[in-house]
Amino acid sequence: MSNTCAILLAAGKGERLKARVPKALANVAGKPLVSFALTVLQRCAAVDAVVLVVPAGYTARFEALVRLLGCRKVCAVVPGGSRRQDSVRAGLAATPAACDTVLVHDSARPFADEALIKSVVRAAKRYGAAIPGVPVKATVKRVGKGPAGTAGIVRETIPRSELWEVQTPQGFCRDVLQRAFARFGRYDVTDDAMLVEKTGARVAMVQGSYQNIKVTTPEDRALAAMLARGKGRR
Ligand code: CTP
Ligand code: MG
Repeated sequence: MSNTCAILLAAGKGERLKARVPKALANVAGKPLVSFALTVLQRCAAVDAVVLVVPAGYTARFEALVRLLGCRKVCAVVPGGSRRQDSVRAGLAATPAACDTVLVHDSARPFADEALIKSVVRAAKRYGAAIPGVPVKATVKRVGKGPAGTAGIVRETIPRSELWEVQTPQGFCRDVLQRAFARFGRYDVTDDAMLVEKTGARVAMVQGSYQNIKVTTPEDRALAAMLARGKGRR
């Protein structure tokens, strides 16, 4: 029987959010941000176990939260590293031996729903690696250095038709991700699929959701709080 483990990343500082606590513990609509992703992973039938990766020195605090929320799928709470990918590596090392499929999810995304998680797991098992994303809606331009008083000078407009903005959770056959880390983990990357792409293995895109926003700045937190309250009323 197949076994899927989610690595839930909560070890970032959240410098851009400018909260007094690590971002995962920042208050969103009355709850710590990480609790949204924890709850959906706990509920999702496609997920068997969760490894929670937390800032060094905060293990007991997050363990208490996991207990409070009744997230019994959490099988380990481990300290992360300095870069996001170092935290992923720490999480990967703590996944149970029985796990053959790995999801990597940012606790900064409170609204990834069960249907999205299931479709990522299904595609990851089928193709080896799968990530959710949405077509870019904005016009995107490359901008170079400009004169004083400007933000820069437009170099070109990037054709948008093939551009997708990617999200988490990203799903991988465990050995595919492990091999990618072993070969290319020393490179700086902004998502996990980039490491797999470097190995030449294919990565499938599945339809994500425009609601699956990432909380990065104070504006995002305000928007997330509004969305959370709206969902609570439904
Ligand atoms: N993350 C992590 N370990 C790190 C850095 C990031 O586990 N060393 C996690 C964060 O907790 C977050 C996700 O990766 O859930 C996405 O990262 P980001 O949004 O950049 O969060 P932070 O690094 O916390 O924020 P900032 O870059 O503003 O400091
Ligand atoms: Mg960061």
